[in-house]
Amino acid sequence: MKVDVLLGLQWGDEGKGKIVDVLTPDYDVIARFQGGPNAGHTIEFEGKKFILHTIPSGIFYPGKVNVIGNGVIVDPYILSLEIEKVRKQGFTVFDNLRISRKAHLILPSHRLLDAIYESAKGKDKIGSTLKGIGPTYTDKMGRNGLRIGDLHYADFYEKYEATKAGHLRIAASYDFDIAAVKIDGMSFAEYEQQWKDAIAVIKKIEHIDSEYFLNTMLQEGKKILAEGAQGSLLDIDFGSYPFVTSSNTTIAGVCSGLGIAPSNIGKVFGIVKAYCTRVGSGPFPTELSDDDGERMRRQGNEFGSTTGRPRRCGWLDIPALRYAVMLNGVTDIILTKADVLNNFETIKICTHYRKDDTSFDYMPFDITDIQPELIEVNGWQSDLNNRTWEQMPAAFTDYVRTIEQMSGVKISIISTGVDREQIVRKIENTLQ
Ligand code: GDP
Ligand code: IMO
Ligand code: MG
Repeated sequence: MKVDVLLGLQWGDEGKGKIVDVLTPDYDVIARFQGGPNAGHTIEFEGKKFILHTIPSGIFYPGKVNVIGNGVIVDPYILSLEIEKVRKQGFTVFDNLRISRKAHLILPSHRLLDAIYESAKGKDKIGSTLKGIGPTYTDKMGRNGLRIGDLHYADFYEKYEATKAGHLRIAASYDFDIAAVKIDGMSFAEYEQQWKDAIAVIKKIEHIDSEYFLNTMLQEGKKILAEGAQGSLLDIDFGSYPFVTSSNTTIAGVCSGLGIAPSNIGKVFGIVKAYCTRVGSGPFPTELSDDDGERMRRQGNEFGSTTGRPRRCGWLDIPALRYAVMLNGVTDIILTKADVLNNFETIKICTHYRKDDTSFDYMPFDITDIQPELIEVNGWQSDLNNRTWEQMPAAFTDYVRTIEQMSGVKISIISTGVDREQIVRKIENTLQ
């Protein structure tokens, strides 16, 4: 058996949570491999809506194992709130959730540093979710981090205090009023208390050597789906640096974040919105500041799942998509939010970029000053629900085939709404 991977090919929020939930019945194990509570993965079914930040999106199916891998970073407070919300709705969590002993902990002082660094950047701020992501991964790489496995040692709080003291020394060198800072609406001391209280909940999750667990599962013929967070264009190496997150959101993150060998990777599902969004700062070549962008935001309810911020909207960007397909070895595209464009008379697609009178279709080192070159296609102007692929309007199937031809990858699933049931499987491979 191989590990199939599902990851975002744009700037995040492509609908990964919904699609993982839809695919979970086909798998035995769902495993998150990177990122932390900067992620917000939305799942809707039977009139219920959940936004998961750390728990893998397979948690709503009894009997499926959900693994938080070593590459994920965990805030005990946020994870404990998530667990409580899911349990309150009657779902089993502790029996179905495992966490890697090697996953790093986000400390309250990491969140403090995130706030300080962002504020020091002023107008150049990243637009971070302020969940402590950058400082925690920095400590991981700097070999100063604390891990889930450390919670079981008697000297955990000694190490905690030493790490925190180091952070506070850094904090003191900035012109920043720590007493005034709010972390999720709380003072630093209040947050720290909640964080410490939450450790008891985290200890109730089974802590495992997830690399052994997952490889044993594979040997036993079990099916594993790796769930990405963020999107390929936010990758620390390949994204629009420095406006990125601090992990490898691309396929490499599966190997380092779960202990899976490259030869054990199977299908790679790339999730793509029918248009583009970005939340936070950073260049966005196809961004729209007109009525079309506003319509996308309204129809697509494009407000951040983690921070509530309005998402920036723009046309589908083919050079960026081809770049993400190349980096990840995508075998199947899953197209989401097609319904958001239902009422558009015409739809644009960016096929090339232009800079200084030169047209090109690759992702350059700097994408700040490039202009999109757009083609226009007909909109379908009808509802896509309750139709099979064969019953879809011609303008829509043309749009899908255009994306397939331009990206070089078949689209095998189309999502037409927020609910688990709003899904169309496309068997026909129009590329062959
Ligand atoms: P993720 O981070 O990739 O899991 O995506 P988010 O959950 O942050 O954002 C995707 C948003 O779009 C959520 O509100 C989903 O409920 C919603 N969504 C997912 N698929 C579709 C779809 O096909 N159509 C519409 N209209 N909404 C969708
Ligand atoms: P999901 O998994 C969209 C963005 C932030 C910011 C930048 C760095 O829901 O798709 P960070 O908090 O990592 O320091 O923020 O990355 N960002 C996301 N944007 N979806 C996400 O996750 C994101 N996670 C981080 O807005 O621009
Ligand atoms: Mg999201």
